Amino acid sequence: MGLHVTLQGLAGLLLLLYALPWAEGGKVLVFPVEGSHWLSMRDVVRELHARGHQAVVLAPEVTLHIKGEDFFTLQTYPVPYTRQGFRQQMMRNIKVVFETGNYVKTFFETSEILKNISTVLLRSCMNLLHNGSLLQQLNSSSFDMVLTDPVIPCGAVLAKYLGIPTVFFLRYIPCGIDSEATQCPKPSSYIPNLLTMLSDHMTFLQRVKNMLYPLALKYICHFSFTPYESLASELLQREVSLVEVLSHASVWLFRGDFVFDYPRPVMPNMVFIGGINCVIKKPLSQVCIFKLSVFYAEYIF
Ligand SMILES: *[C@@H]1O[C@H](CO)[C@@H](O)[C@H](O)[C@H]1NC(C)=O
Ligand SMILES: *[C@@H]1O[C@H](CO)[C@@H](O)[C@H](O)[C@H]1NC(C)=O
Ligand SMILES: *[C@@H]1O[C@H](CO)[C@@H](O)[C@H](O)[C@H]1NC(C)=O
Repeated sequence: MGLHVTLQGLAGLLLLLYALPWAEGGKVLVFPVEGSHWLSMRDVVRELHARGHQAVVLAPEVTLHIKGEDFFTLQTYPVPYTRQGFRQQMMRNIKVVFETGNYVKTFFETSEILKNISTVLLRSCMNLLHNGSLLQQLNSSSFDMVLTDPVIPCGAVLAKYLGIPTVFFLRYIPCGIDSEATQCPKPSSYIPNLLTMLSDHMTFLQRVKNMLYPLALKYICHFSFTPYESLASELLQREVSLVEVLSHASVWLFRGDFVFDYPRPVMPNMVFIGGINCVIKKPLSQVCIFKLSVFYAEYIF
């Protein structure tokens, strides 16, 4: 019976795929995350536009990289800080990341920075999700789909609230929340956790290390993610966990590849599209340390 249903689903999906090039364009609500996250998502939006879909990019008024382009409609919402203040905060934080010393000092300084950045982004998200008229307008625009990066789960909360199909587009989300939300197994005996520098072949002591490292990250996840649970609960008027918010997604597009990452179990709705980061190829010219710093700061973030 189960197999029968699956086959039927598969047939339906194939039909849908065949029909896609001729299907009527859909309306996509894009909720990007600032920085390099947006730079790769922008290529996807460009491609969606080329295939006849209509994209609305929802962004705060104050941004670093997100600017209007001719292949999408940019819709902004007010935020309680200025461009100058936002830039200064980001640059100061990036500087601190690279002036660090030992591990413990680095950990606490990085946590402090992440806390500050989280606070700014949370304020921006609250401005959006507390704006009743804007939410109503988004709801009445009847989008077919939301495309968002869940590393800042504001777009994910909005998608859950609007109750429309959602596609996640991400490099990574800490604390194994992706595995929890998709109920994907993540055995710590052979899947190295972030920052452990371990491989998929571990000794007993390395496995212990692999199990202990996430505890420190849990602290960061706690302060950066818990506020979004409260926001979601407030919006949906019931107790909602972040895992529930994220499990709303239909498809998870990971900007990763098993060439770089150790193999791990995946769910059928997880797709690896690491190649998207190599769309524009050119030889490295003058690799300036500042650019690298920004890259790493964004990667860590
Ligand atoms: C809500 O969003 C709209 C559209 O971006 C904006 O014009 C309005 O000022 C916002 N309202 C509040 C209270 O921020
Ligand atoms: C973080 O924010 C606090 C309070 O706004 C500030 O005192 C502190 O200097 C900030 N730290 C960094 C690293 O920006
Ligand atoms: C969105 O609008 C529809 C009617 O167009 C309404 O039934 C629904 O409750 C609204 N959803 C939200 C989350 O406001």
